[in-house]
Amino acid sequence: MTGGAGYIGSHVVRLLQQQGQDVVVIDDLSSGSQQRIGSAKLVALDLAAETATQKLVALIEAESVEAVIHLAARKQVGESVSKPEWYFEQNIGGMAHLLEAMRLTKVNKMVFSSSAATYGMPDTDFVKEDFDCKPINPYGQTKLIGEWMTANAERAWGLRAVNLRYFNVAGAGWPDLADTAKMNLVPIVFDALASGKAPAVFGTDYDTADGSCVRDYVHVLDLAEAHLTSLDYLARDDRKHSTFNVGTGVGASVLQVLNEIKRVSKIDFEVEMQPRRPGDPPYLCADVSRIKSELDWSAKRGLAEIIESAWNARSAAN
Ligand SMILES: NC(=O)c1ccc[n+]([C@@H]2O[C@H](COP(=O)([O-])OP(=O)(O)OC[C@H]3O[C@@H](n4cnc5c(N)ncnc54)[C@H](O)[C@@H]3O)[C@@H](O)[C@H]2O)c1
Repeated sequence: MTGGAGYIGSHVVRLLQQQGQDVVVIDDLSSGSQQRIGSAKLVALDLAAETATQKLVALIEAESVEAVIHLAARKQVGESVSKPEWYFEQNIGGMAHLLEAMRLTKVNKMVFSSSAATYGMPDTDFVKEDFDCKPINPYGQTKLIGEWMTANAERAWGLRAVNLRYFNVAGAGWPDLADTAKMNLVPIVFDALASGKAPAVFGTDYDTADGSCVRDYVHVLDLAEAHLTSLDYLARDDRKHSTFNVGTGVGASVLQVLNEIKRVSKIDFEVEMQPRRPGDPPYLCADVSRIKSELDWSAKRGLAEIIESAWNARSAAN
């Protein structure tokens, strides 16, 4: 597994370990941490490094790898806008090395972390996988190109791939696996509260029920389970699709999330209303019918469990 020492990857590692599976984690620890993966073997490697393919081939052979879950990527939208070349080098270059190593070693199963960022600004509330993707930043573009890469490898040498388009991932499956990055709404709000600041809401005049943006928040443990389901799917010969939305199919507005945080934290904080940010679609939620019918997967946890688990993990870390 690549990127296994990160927020989402460490949940997938733990589930696999609980199933008794051997996991090897490849991670350069740029944002991940070895503490998150327990006894799993860690190989510290930047996938985008020039010598990565050779090292990956040796590792895949030595460890008799049967399938790859590819989560490693740079994921900061703003940084991708200011350093686009580096994002392509990292996310596309790294993935090219990995696919080349898999081709050379005849490992033909991959689950790839894609993103709802591939959709850009869809003019529909619940977006389906066959929507015409027009990502609006380099980060989203690297994810769409990653999907093209798996499709090309399927045609060229028989890769079997599942591209999982994650929506807004939040929560914690275990108290020691909190999302510690300050990039997503929930940890950003927790940080603001910890420093006594009022969390900001960007845009309160959208055409939504309460005027704030609506997103599809998926519990990280539900998402991690979708990876295990995807591995089983790759073993089947009757696969109809390679790309799946992973969300709940239920939207929650930014103000609803903040209210849930107030309830769980028991802190009655003020909110700072800010103007809209460019590039924020008012509504972006998953149509989850494909993953339900093809993989028999659906999210089991809702917003309350997401916020409660995130808050407990955050409190455990303090
Ligand atoms: N968190 C979300 O809401 C979200 C939503 C959609 C998609 N994703 C995707 O899910 C994946 C995991 O995201 P996360 O939230 O766990 O992020 P994360 O930063 O916690 O995890 C990414 C891991 O990959 C490692 N990594 C990054 N670049 C690497 C490289 N070149 N070589 C080796 N290791 C490298 C990092 O050290 C880190 O451990 C990413 O591909 C991300 O784009 C995340």
